[in-house]
Amino acid sequence: MKEFRDFPLKSYNTFGMEVACARFVQVDREEEICSMAELFRTPHYILGGGSNTLFTKFYEGTIIHPAFGGIERVEETSDSVLLRLAAGEPWENLTEYCRQNGLYGLENLTGIPGLAGSAPVQNIGAYGTEAKDCIEKVYGYYTDTLQPFALSNAECRFGYRNSVFKQELKGRCFITHVHFRLSTRPRFNLTYKALAQAMEGHEPTLDSVTETILSIRNSKLPDISKIGCAGSFFKNPVVEESQHQALLARFPDLVSYPAEPGYVKLAAGQLIEKAGWKGRRIGDAGIYPLQALVVVNYGNAKPEEISQVYGQVISDVENLFHITLSPEVNII
Ligand code: EPU
Repeated sequence: MKEFRDFPLKSYNTFGMEVACARFVQVDREEEICSMAELFRTPHYILGGGSNTLFTKFYEGTIIHPAFGGIERVEETSDSVLLRLAAGEPWENLTEYCRQNGLYGLENLTGIPGLAGSAPVQNIGAYGTEAKDCIEKVYGYYTDTLQPFALSNAECRFGYRNSVFKQELKGRCFITHVHFRLSTRPRFNLTYKALAQAMEGHEPTLDSVTETILSIRNSKLPDISKIGCAGSFFKNPVVEESQHQALLARFPDLVSYPAEPGYVKLAAGQLIEKAGWKGRRIGDAGIYPLQALVVVNYGNAKPEEISQVYGQVISDVENLFHITLSPEVNII
């Protein structure tokens, strides 16, 4: 375990915010968690790759960062492999491991930044696939008692960018590892429109789907090594079918996706674009010109500028559509 005081977080958040925290604890081995009872009783925040967090000010508490990685095969059946991913393993190492080893199921999630331990928290998803489709169990410790837990897929109560870790167990768990079950037989999900269109006429293989996903992502999402952001800043809103019908009368080209019965999911990016925000900026903060769901830091955005951008977006979308967008990123 390594500990630092007044630690700068710029390289620990993909937004690239110039903030610091009072104390930073890097956990190098899973066993170290057992000696952290006292620390867990003080204000803290568990930070993975920092790709879904916006720091708006100096963090007075302790940032706890899992730095133990590893990918292990724990079981093989006639048609599947069970992988154990340690919390600190970068997500992209998992999708690359799957590509190299002929394991199917997570290829649509190629190119997502962040660490494996964070994937179940918000049930990361893209192009018709969600982490929950392959998660078998999530392991860790309850931070109040230091009792270990092993939650099944059903117990994690996964939903759209949601899980028990964002609800009842919010702030009460340290996830140490995740079991993913991958198929050894080809099993592609090409239902997402943009993916289906791009794959037309191409044989789906792990390589071709991976390359296609990366090229779609690169055409819409900023390269986080150059432009700070945390991917989609807002969740796509779910509205009642009656509200959807009323909106369609005003905006016939409104994009929608099926949700639970009686509801539809709308594309927040399209709503933000229609509200006139695509490509607009305030100082060094702005809305990305190629995908309006992404709030970006062009270099030295001040926290106030980022807040002004997303606050103004929320209110303009509300005025135009009577829909309140909820941030997808954790704002600290
Ligand atoms: N759209 C616009 N204008 C925009 C952006 C989008 O009209 O500026 C329209 C597109 O034309 C399309 C629809 O909105 O018809 C959906 O756009 P896209 O396929 O880019 O996906 P999204 O709904 O905007 C979601 C996820 C992304 C994920 C993509 C692909 C959320 C909050 N975001 O975005 O996830 O990569 O689908 O599956 O669900 C992330 O979570 O950080 C993230 C990037």
